Amino acid sequence: MSGCPYFEKRHLLFKNKPPKTDDDEDGSQAGVNNASRGGIIYGDYLQLDKILSAQVLQSEIKSNKIHDEHLFIVTHQAYELWFKQILFELDSVREIFISGHVRDERNMLKVNTRIHRVVMIFRLLVDQFAVLETMTALDFFDFREYLSPASGFQSLQFRILENKIGVPDNQRVPYNRRHYRDNFTGHDSEMLLATEQEPTLLKLVEEWLERTPGLEVDGFNFWEKLQINIFNRLNQEREKMEKMPESEEKEEVMAELVKQRELFTSLFDEKRHDHLVSKGERRLSYKALQGALMIYFYREEPRFQVPFQLLTSLMDIDTLMTKWRYNHVCMVHRMIGSKAGTGGSSGYQYLRSTVSDRYKVFVDLFNLATFLVPRHWVPKLNPNVHTFLYTAECCDSSYCSSEDSD
Ligand code: HEM
Repeated sequence: MSGCPYFEKRHLLFKNKPPKTDDDEDGSQAGVNNASRGGIIYGDYLQLDKILSAQVLQSEIKSNKIHDEHLFIVTHQAYELWFKQILFELDSVREIFISGHVRDERNMLKVNTRIHRVVMIFRLLVDQFAVLETMTALDFFDFREYLSPASGFQSLQFRILENKIGVPDNQRVPYNRRHYRDNFTGHDSEMLLATEQEPTLLKLVEEWLERTPGLEVDGFNFWEKLQINIFNRLNQEREKMEKMPESEEKEEVMAELVKQRELFTSLFDEKRHDHLVSKGERRLSYKALQGALMIYFYREEPRFQVPFQLLTSLMDIDTLMTKWRYNHVCMVHRMIGSKAGTGGSSGYQYLRSTVSDRYKVFVDLFNLATFLVPRHWVPKLNPNVHTFLYTAECCDSSYCSSEDSD
């Protein structure tokens, strides 16, 4: 580093030891300033020269500096930085699934921690709009013309994020009757196309759920046991109700029972499931759905606790993204009313149509709550099965041999 004027000046800063003062008595001044020994310092490490010089106010360039444009820029940049961190975490989690390392169940903790981190970042992003909302619609109006045709719609990272989580192309709301990718060109457009074709978090979670131990037809065979149990219980309920004296109440409970039977008949109908998948109303495969329900029911078993937490976090991501869209559209409404967006959409109307289940990637996990039954309806684990749900072996979850199961 010799010859570097910056480095030499830095040494001057720490050359003279400050005189001892009374403050030293309590040991609060006992440290050594490590930066005096050389090495990278804060501003260089974080490349703050780049980040802190990236707030260029278009209003100032146009000789009409508007105070609030600074906040507008910093807010968007903060969002983009957090999007970057989310993508970083998502990629690492997807890699654990893609490489098959997830088959070593010890890695599930890493997956969970990172997905939970994504959840916490989204929480922050949902709340962050409140800071921008300290700007009034009039203040925004003062500089809005200078940023046109720039728009959040052109945020590459936001689209990559949606794609990597698994927002399906055919569920997206069209943008002025066009495909969202038409707003991107060259390398950006190619990148987006690539993320549409890569395995999404949804797809990877689906494959993992399909391997849930306990689903094996020649083993515990959870699905068949559950079906038998539920219909036995429904029959018992009906027999009990048939003995009730004729009354309005009896009619009501009988009607409710018919509904319950129809509901569960649909759950165990694979063809119906495939039909719902083709309509986009369900996203997971039939087998994966069974795995998820099994994890829900046996969530207290040691092997299923971490998987259950993961499913909960995935729902949190969907919920928070919906809240993000909602908070964003509310802010847009107050800022521009029903004016068209700078990107060219109908603005508020367009954004409102995106706050819907079409964008909920893990919608099946939410809907599973429809099929929850009382604990005593859930198939009991026999001692062998109980043992494998206690033992997290460091290999494929589909390791269960017929000896392990009943
Ligand atoms: C005064 C504040 C804001 C206004 C008035 C506003 C307005 C709009 C409008 C009208 C659209 C629709 C596209 C268009 O025609 O331009 C849009 C989309 C979008 N904005 Fe904002 N926005 C604001 C702040 C933000 C912030 C802070 C972010 C954070 C990154 C953001 C991210 C996005 C994204 C990702 C989209 C695309 C949403 C989608 O297509 O689902 N916006 N915005």
